[in-house]
Amino acid sequence: MHVHCCKQPTIPFMQAMNTHLLLSPPTTVIDRRPNDLFPKKLSSQSSCVNRKGRRSCSVGHRGANGAHNINPTCSIKPEADEDRRNKMDRRNVLIGLGGAGLGLGLDTNPLASGAPIPPPDFSTCGKTTDEVTGLDCCPPTSEVKTPTPFKPVAPPKSSVRTRLAAQNAVKDPDYIKKYRRATELMKGLDVDDPRNFWNQANVHCSYCDGAFNQNLAGYKCLEIQVHNSWLFFPFHRWFLFFYERILGSLIDDPTFALPFWNWDSPDGMYLPELFELENGASPLYDHYRNTKHRQKDFLLDLNYSGTDVHQDAKTLIDNNLKTMNRQMNTKDQCLFFGQPYRAGDCPNPGGGNIELIPHNTVHNWTGDPKWLAEDMGKFYSSARDPIFFAHHSNVDRMWHLWLEKIGGKNLEQDDWLNAEFYFYNEKKELVSVTVQDSIDIGILGYAYENVDIPWLQTKPTARKPANKAKPDGLGLQDQSSAAKGGFSLDSKISIAVPRPKQGVEKAEREEILILRDIKFPSDQGLKFDVYVNDDADTPSQPSQSEFAGSFVHVPHKHGMTFKTSLYLGIKTLLKDVGADKAASVVVTLVPRYRNGPVTIGGISIEQSSCD
Ligand code: C2O
Repeated sequence: MHVHCCKQPTIPFMQAMNTHLLLSPPTTVIDRRPNDLFPKKLSSQSSCVNRKGRRSCSVGHRGANGAHNINPTCSIKPEADEDRRNKMDRRNVLIGLGGAGLGLGLDTNPLASGAPIPPPDFSTCGKTTDEVTGLDCCPPTSEVKTPTPFKPVAPPKSSVRTRLAAQNAVKDPDYIKKYRRATELMKGLDVDDPRNFWNQANVHCSYCDGAFNQNLAGYKCLEIQVHNSWLFFPFHRWFLFFYERILGSLIDDPTFALPFWNWDSPDGMYLPELFELENGASPLYDHYRNTKHRQKDFLLDLNYSGTDVHQDAKTLIDNNLKTMNRQMNTKDQCLFFGQPYRAGDCPNPGGGNIELIPHNTVHNWTGDPKWLAEDMGKFYSSARDPIFFAHHSNVDRMWHLWLEKIGGKNLEQDDWLNAEFYFYNEKKELVSVTVQDSIDIGILGYAYENVDIPWLQTKPTARKPANKAKPDGLGLQDQSSAAKGGFSLDSKISIAVPRPKQGVEKAEREEILILRDIKFPSDQGLKFDVYVNDDADTPSQPSQSEFAGSFVHVPHKHGMTFKTSLYLGIKTLLKDVGADKAASVVVTLVPRYRNGPVTIGGISIEQSSCD
């Protein structure tokens, strides 16, 4: 059933509810969604802290629902992978249990505001279609049952699943055999079996392409989105957890573990051989990858900007390692996890450091440009490539390393901890899981192989003083107009941005460069790089301090305007370039690729409200 949802209110919540009542007169709604049987864990409203009048690190998103819709669209490539598509088409389209997608606004539960993101309502799952192609990512209905809560019980030591670096795993013929066999079995499962490989791929698609709306009174028109917010790490940890255990159960080996694509080390900065063809066939191989990047010894560029830079290996590796250092080296929780995202919030408040780079860049680097960047370069298709799970295994490892090596701390807000998802486990049972239950990988029963972490020591360095800020640089904008009124990003632009006044207490905290409300077509690629006090004519390498970071998008959902914000920590940068006392800095934005108009709502520098 395709749920047509109401238009997003752009007015405050209660007012919106009233208006909605006027617009949709009472209808008889029999709503028997399975998850309504479960009490919602409503939590207190806490945020990335508002203590002492500091502002929340979710800047200006709460309650403003924006122009987001509702079961938007995905495309699939024409004539591609017929087999796969036929399989999916044979599957029944989901039949809604409640039979009512209308009048949902009648539920009025103002308590919902400030609650964690609720689990999806499978019965109102909508297609992520566009009219032309029709892509349905909804879970098979055959197994929709009452979800059981996940039981956090650590397995015995003997069955800990140790995830190996892919470049090491490939040396073990037994492991290769197991991994291939398990994947082959998974691909061969019945199309109605939720453990089926393609259904697993669709789990990702449904949580990222607007198939589900928030199943909470008052917010049923808002999609659930697991990217570009603090849900990113926990959602993907769970997704891998279940996927890995399904593989293990299919080969009857509870110790089976996914490999990790060790892209943060020179040893792993290639498309892992483990996923390549051998003797013409492997279930771990996917045809829809960038053929150039499949070449042996083709170095991965963590700052991939759509074209391959012709740098010598040493320079590229140096850029990669210093990029890793820059992205990991902060204790600021909002920068690391991404911005708060609660029931009623617009999706995509802002991704964390690792989500943007290297997570998004590696997706884009791997996808096949000949096929609209499928599989890895589009969220709806990315998990159709088995390499997705090795990529995310390393993303997940970064969360682990951040806690272990950088001294980061997990968020403590209830609205994060109590966010909930549904997955099918290895027994085809629907399981409800929370973020809370994801934070201890010991309890989840897996560990990571210890390998070198070369980026721990590779800090970016500043350019020569001669290259420092040119306050009269290219197209320098008056901050007041650019920052307040917004601007479009058509080409390179430099903007003077004032820094917040330093207080004694504040000096400790991270300083954040915020690009607010970046808007562009959701299904189009976009990357732009951000420099501070740099030479706008010849901007820095990623290995240099002036390079503050990038905005990178992985396209999904057709016909929508994507809206998000970018948060970059610049405290270390400012020190490196000798601008820690400056009253303002010059920010240069350089678009690397884009397709269609890009506007930015404003630019500012603020003290972090995350400690
Ligand atoms: Cu959900 Cu790598 O994406």
